[in-house]
Amino acid sequence: MPGHLDVHDPGRTTEDPVHLQAAERRAAVPPPPVPRPRLSFTDAFTAALRGSAVEVVGPDGQVSALPVQSWRRVDAADEAMLAHCVGPTVDLGCGPGRMGARLAERGGHVLGVDVVDEAVLQTRQRGVPALRRDVLGPLPGEGRWGSVLLADGNLGIGGDPLALLRRARALLARGGRVVVELDAPGTATPPFWSRLRLDGVESRPFRWALVGADAVGDLARRARLELGLLDHVDGRWFAVLHRPDRPDRPDRPDRPDRPDRPDRPDRPDRPDRPDRPDRPDRPGRPGR
Ligand SMILES: C[S@@+](CC[C@H](N)C(=O)[O-])C[C@H]1O[C@@H](n2cnc3c(N)ncnc32)[C@H](O)[C@@H]1O
Repeated sequence: MPGHLDVHDPGRTTEDPVHLQAAERRAAVPPPPVPRPRLSFTDAFTAALRGSAVEVVGPDGQVSALPVQSWRRVDAADEAMLAHCVGPTVDLGCGPGRMGARLAERGGHVLGVDVVDEAVLQTRQRGVPALRRDVLGPLPGEGRWGSVLLADGNLGIGGDPLALLRRARALLARGGRVVVELDAPGTATPPFWSRLRLDGVESRPFRWALVGADAVGDLARRARLELGLLDHVDGRWFAVLHRPDRPDRPDRPDRPDRPDRPDRPDRPDRPDRPDRPDRPDRPGRPGR
């Protein structure tokens, strides 16, 4: 709509661009940000371990309760997994330490490792030594553990199961084993981001993945582990993966974890090279 003539100043209309620009500028300025509470994974997880109701928000927005109660007791499937832990065992992502405590009761030697202080504290309160560390960072006893335990879907930590299995292998002595819980066959997922939610506030995202029982053989092979056993108890799946009891081949040292290479595109056929003309004899090089 055209602007009206300003009778006091016929030189401009009521929709004078200068005035309009100022108004538009004011309208375009976003409102001051409402400070959103920041919640770390660690804070949310700590609250859960201390008894608060915490939810997991999956990649598609689906919400489920963080199953903290299941980390407080040991059932038949857990016992079956623990029966395969031999020698000194490192429990990666130990949570509040139920598996380590039960293993210690069975006479095993175990170290819990978890990134969350509260998990480490609760594990120690159960009488099990524990360290606050990232499972992908340096750990004591590298290359000397008898067993690595990855219980309750912990193969998903970090969203790169192959990297985690390679990490587990590097922790093991020759002949050692990874005892790893899996998801049901056919449930493997690509890595995804999840969040924890406490009192309506979502945590920063963390990366996770699911590995189905049918996918573990291939994964183990790529991590240079041998699938010894695949079993299920009460609907929960687990595998025992062995580090072979022989020296690593010298031409294949442990490779650092690296992302899978994307498939290479097919190379275009190269055009035939034209025949090279005979080269003239080169003159001998003068002595220096
Ligand atoms: C699903 S809970 C499993 C608890 C325990 N394994 C059990 O079965 O009772 C996952 C645990 O892994 C820990 N975690 C996640 N990422 C980790 C990391 N990068 N390094 C060490 N622990 C980690 C979490 O703090 C949490 O305690």
